Amino acid sequence: MKDFKDKNGFITGAASGIGRSFALALAKRGMNLYITDINMESLEKVKLEIEKIGVKVFVCKCDVSRYKDFEKAAKDFYEKLGELDLLINNAGISMGFDLLNIDLKVWKRVMDVNLGSIIHSIKAFLPRMIKRGSGYIANVASGAGILGIAEPIPYIASKFGVVGLSETFFARLKNLGINVSVIVPMWIKTNIIVVDTDKIQYPPKLLEDFGKEKLDKAYSTLMDVIAEGAISPDDAVEFYIEGIQKNQLYIFDNPYYLEALEMKGKDPKQYEDHIVEGFTNRGKAFREHFHKHGIDIEKYM
Ligand SMILES: NC(=O)c1ccc[n+]([C@@H]2O[C@H](COP(=O)([O-])OP(=O)(O)OC[C@H]3O[C@@H](n4cnc5c(N)ncnc54)[C@H](O)[C@@H]3O)[C@@H](O)[C@H]2O)c1
Repeated sequence: MKDFKDKNGFITGAASGIGRSFALALAKRGMNLYITDINMESLEKVKLEIEKIGVKVFVCKCDVSRYKDFEKAAKDFYEKLGELDLLINNAGISMGFDLLNIDLKVWKRVMDVNLGSIIHSIKAFLPRMIKRGSGYIANVASGAGILGIAEPIPYIASKFGVVGLSETFFARLKNLGINVSVIVPMWIKTNIIVVDTDKIQYPPKLLEDFGKEKLDKAYSTLMDVIAEGAISPDDAVEFYIEGIQKNQLYIFDNPYYLEALEMKGKDPKQYEDHIVEGFTNRGKAFREHFHKHGIDIEKYM
């Protein structure tokens, strides 16, 4: 997809982070937009920013875990803007850190949002794209969908699913005139990497020994350590748009994942050691961070 001017785009999770940056960058390139999210207050603010740029923009509440929301949004999209040129499946959540105590509801929610988003949007939009013989689908996965060395584990499982779906849709749809990309962000400075301490379910003994205030302080600064070197969503989106313009299946913002994939193919043993070491090092950085806050976290895991 070389050019975005006067084309129509639909973006999920556009109220903040990568989705918002995508919306603004595409609007600046002349694309008309239909932006969706569950956070309507922030979404309305993005709409105002886009209106100032001067393209058409519509907002709609669309919870990506609900097919009915997509069905309604797609109908409204077609009425307001006509054909869909670019679908960006961006909305995603990250939950479930405590390996032994991940609630089944957390597993289900992560799958319903991160994978459901792709399944539902494809069902809502693909038939008309196929009929028209054109269109572009960009799915935002994660480095966590390429190699399994990060946490949370439900997030990894869902993002491996997003990568798999994207690959198969790329192969299946290429000869029908539809392009598919999978975007693989590394660390981007957005709300998703800000730890929301209100949502953390601390193990009861940890809470009893240290208290919520101390734990919140340690957890809320954890990502500063883990996500060191994170880039801004505006910068990241410039890479992603370039990848879309080249019709690339995989769009990386960091060479690390390509190197890891190469290692996986060339030297499986080295790859196995690498992922175990990755987890170990991440765990070490995690423990050291808590020690600085006077919490011997390893005794509680
Ligand atoms: N930030 C990173 O470091 C990073 C790294 C890898 C992948 N990603 C992926 O990038 C995508 C965008 O995340 P972000 O970093 O911009 O985070 P973000 O939290 O800033 O944005 C996510 C947006 O999705 C919306 N959302 C959440 N649940 C939703 C639902 N059920 N229905 C509709 N909208 C919903 C949120 O309201 C929010 O506006 C996600 O898929 C995420 O997994 C981010």
